[in-house]
Amino acid sequence: MADVLLPRRAAPDGSPFPDRRDPGFERDVRRMFSHIARRYEWFDHVASLGSDLVWRPRALWDLDRFRAGGPVRRILDLGCGTGELTRRVARHFPTATVVGVDFTTAMLAAARRRTAGAAGRERIAYGRATAMRLPFPDGSFDLATNAFLARNLLDLDAALAEMRRVLRPGGVLLTLEITEPVAPAVGALFHAYFDHVVPWLGAAVDSAGPYRYLPESLHRLPPRPAFRQALRRAGFGRIALVPQSLGIVTTFLAEADGDGRVPAPERRG
Ligand SMILES: C[S@@+](CC[C@H](N)C(=O)[O-])C[C@H]1O[C@@H](n2cnc3c(N)ncnc32)[C@H](O)[C@@H]1O
Repeated sequence: MADVLLPRRAAPDGSPFPDRRDPGFERDVRRMFSHIARRYEWFDHVASLGSDLVWRPRALWDLDRFRAGGPVRRILDLGCGTGELTRRVARHFPTATVVGVDFTTAMLAAARRRTAGAAGRERIAYGRATAMRLPFPDGSFDLATNAFLARNLLDLDAALAEMRRVLRPGGVLLTLEITEPVAPAVGALFHAYFDHVVPWLGAAVDSAGPYRYLPESLHRLPPRPAFRQALRRAGFGRIALVPQSLGIVTTFLAEADGDGRVPAPERRG
């Protein structure tokens, strides 16, 4: 009932345009991803000018350089969407099982369709859950990955704590996300494109709301130093931030602390 009565922001064409201040934000994020599920991968390649095809493999390359070694048997890919990173991770770690988790049924359906003929499909499973409450025991995974999820999370701290909880001590978290470019001149060009051209293109070929939400979501992501602090608060020790494409995206890598305890908040000043 409350679902019907809550205010809901929509674009003029009626497409979902999630509003973080609205109590129904997560429901609207699901509606938005349901709305774009069939065209998601295609539009992602177009809007990123093909760069997303490089960003995911490069993030795994960064991961290989960060990891201390040890066996990788179980991997969680959170916010797996249509499974682009899930399938890539399964190819990258050919003896591991990979679980893709997402809270949008339509994205999971697309992931299952696309994975049906993919290499390593027998080692990939998909399931529905929210990042804030993962249905896995403590220490279940050697690696946890997520790409382009963090901007969409209502409570980043809660989700990072969940990812830390399901990693074994010494396990590694990989987060790939759009970030502010490092150089201001690149930032100006990037924002001209990302804040104006992408929403226009999205409205022209698909619908307005999701691609107006896209630049808005980036403004909500903490800057790199604050993201690093959030990882520390969640119980990660060794951390590395690796900018890609002049900082348009960043690979965040973090190793789960040995004892699994969440440290006291860092002192400031
Ligand atoms: C931008 S897509 C990224 C998909 C995929 N990781 C990729 O690399 O293309 C973000 C995905 O995160 C999912 N998502 C957003 N918030 C979530 C949450 N709180 N719990 C689980 N999944 C979430 C959405 O349903 C969507 O499929």
